[in-house]
Amino acid sequence: MQTITIIKPDDFHLHLRDGIALSNVVNHTAAQFSRAIVMPNLKSPVVNTEMALAYKERILQCVDEKYNFEPLMTLYLTDNTSVSTIKTAAESNIIKALKYYPAGATTNSDQGVTDIKKTYAVLNVMMEDSMPLLVHGEVTGDDVDMFDREAVFIDKVLTPLVRDFPELKIVFEHITTRAAVDFVMGSSDKIGATITPQHILLNRNDLFKGGLQPHHYCLPILKAEDDRQAVSEAATSGNPKFFLGTDSAPHARSTKESSCGCAGIYSAFNALEIYVEAFDSLGKLDKFEAFASQYGADYYDLPQNIEQMTLIKKEQDIPDLFPFGDDEIVPFRAGGTCSWQLKK
Ligand code: DOR
Ligand code: ZN
Repeated sequence: MQTITIIKPDDFHLHLRDGIALSNVVNHTAAQFSRAIVMPNLKSPVVNTEMALAYKERILQCVDEKYNFEPLMTLYLTDNTSVSTIKTAAESNIIKALKYYPAGATTNSDQGVTDIKKTYAVLNVMMEDSMPLLVHGEVTGDDVDMFDREAVFIDKVLTPLVRDFPELKIVFEHITTRAAVDFVMGSSDKIGATITPQHILLNRNDLFKGGLQPHHYCLPILKAEDDRQAVSEAATSGNPKFFLGTDSAPHARSTKESSCGCAGIYSAFNALEIYVEAFDSLGKLDKFEAFASQYGADYYDLPQNIEQMTLIKKEQDIPDLFPFGDDEIVPFRAGGTCSWQLKK
């Protein structure tokens, strides 16, 4: 039977939510990953170090004792984030990055940034302190087509931002387009990008195949096949700018299967196995360990994990549902199979 043994990986983009939902999902991640960059877009966003410390405690309380899992905390950037908030965060050693949501771009982004220029004083301090800015790279507003929002963001926001702050570390999160791949490849080593399993595997046809597929709806939305190919090639290229970030984003089934459904794909149950399957199908297994376990840690100046993990090429069933508070959650590829699994 084919196996692959790798340094235990990290997830550099994860939504864990809070309360009972947190306790329902966190151990799926802890079973596969050593560390995860935890997004701060709670209903009441995590805007300072004190809130992040309290959230980290709540996360750790829900982690099964058999796992050695470290949540890496982030803060939510607003128009009003102060320089002293950044200073405290940088000195804390707890906060690994700030997340920039353009206001109104996605789930719980209402308190996000209305104009990046309003944060320039803060970005200056982040640049000096080597604190990365994690970017949800989509413009908002009805004047821009849904499928063009990432490409327009590159032209209108990201290109000027990189020009104004050439030494600022920026992670272009969950990239979905050839334009984003080209932008990252053409930028300095300060610019990295995370890549999700769904943007490697799916294109926008998968939103409509056989009827509307609410569990394939995420933001940035799935793009055309040419974009998917570019993203998939970037992930498997061995370029250290591209690393693993699942963007696993749990929402209750009733809020996904709804007349106005939430954005987010829940992949935490077996994201690692789905990535491995994708790399294997492309004949790129040799590129997998660095993408999953090395490039992200290097980008964030974190030590590489010491533990190892083995995956086996053996089919596993993916459950239809998991409990989620008083509702349920439908995982990515629910009811299907994955041709790889973790060695128990
Ligand atoms: O699909 C998404 N879901 N994209 C995001 O940017 C946010 C996330 C969430 O928090 O649900
Ligand atoms: Zn996200």
